[in-house]
Amino acid sequence: MPPPVPPPTWPDSLAGRFVVFDGPDGSGKSTQFHRFSHWCSDRGLGVCEVREPGGTYIGERIRELLLDPTVTEELHVRCEMLLFMASRAQLISQRIIPAVAAGQLVLADRFISSTLAYQGTAGGLSIPEILAVGEVAVGGAAACWPDLTVVFDVDEATAAARLSPLLDRMEQKGAAYHRRVRAGYLAQAAADPERYLVIDARAEPDAVFKRLLDGLVKRDWQSNPIEQ
Ligand code: TYD
Repeated sequence: MPPPVPPPTWPDSLAGRFVVFDGPDGSGKSTQFHRFSHWCSDRGLGVCEVREPGGTYIGERIRELLLDPTVTEELHVRCEMLLFMASRAQLISQRIIPAVAAGQLVLADRFISSTLAYQGTAGGLSIPEILAVGEVAVGGAAACWPDLTVVFDVDEATAAARLSPLLDRMEQKGAAYHRRVRAGYLAQAAADPERYLVIDARAEPDAVFKRLLDGLVKRDWQSNPIEQ
């Protein structure tokens, strides 16, 4: 009889998973993203890092248009949403599906949760409508819905203090808009606590990273095995 296969241990149980880091502008999520990615690689886990909008040649071209602060013509929120989704559709087929299939941890800096918070709660588009377009972007691939979305939550003053003075087109949308963005993330997390993890990101980076690891370890990855 073959010896029993031991259950995967942390962080190996993240292999073949799709985890998103998200949050308002100035939340410090990108710092935590790179730190966590290195932390996983140092422990032998294959990590595929992607960012949105962008992450592919086509996606980076779409990103230029979306974030260019010199674009003065108003971009209608529906067009904005579809451009973010178009970048995502390319990223999914070109990078995410192959990486998940290869057993890597896919770590995404922003995903559909951003569209729900920015173009949905803050921008006024309906959440079911965005999810319906999301289904089209994903093309029915179950591997493209994140196993977990980590939301780095910060208050307005902390976020503003962390932003570079050179604001991009989205960052220029003003305080009321960004207040709604934050509320949008918190509403998503409250509605689906199993698939969201909210991290209080007001503290210094070391303390936030510790909170992140604690929060991730507590998730029951092993009793939710990946279907082969
Ligand atoms: P980026 O420079 O990548 O910001 P950050 O480093 O904070 O991630 O800019 C991405 C901007 O686009 C950011 O303001 C959030 C916004 N965004 C949306 O409005 N909708 C989306 O679907 C995505 C992915 C991003």
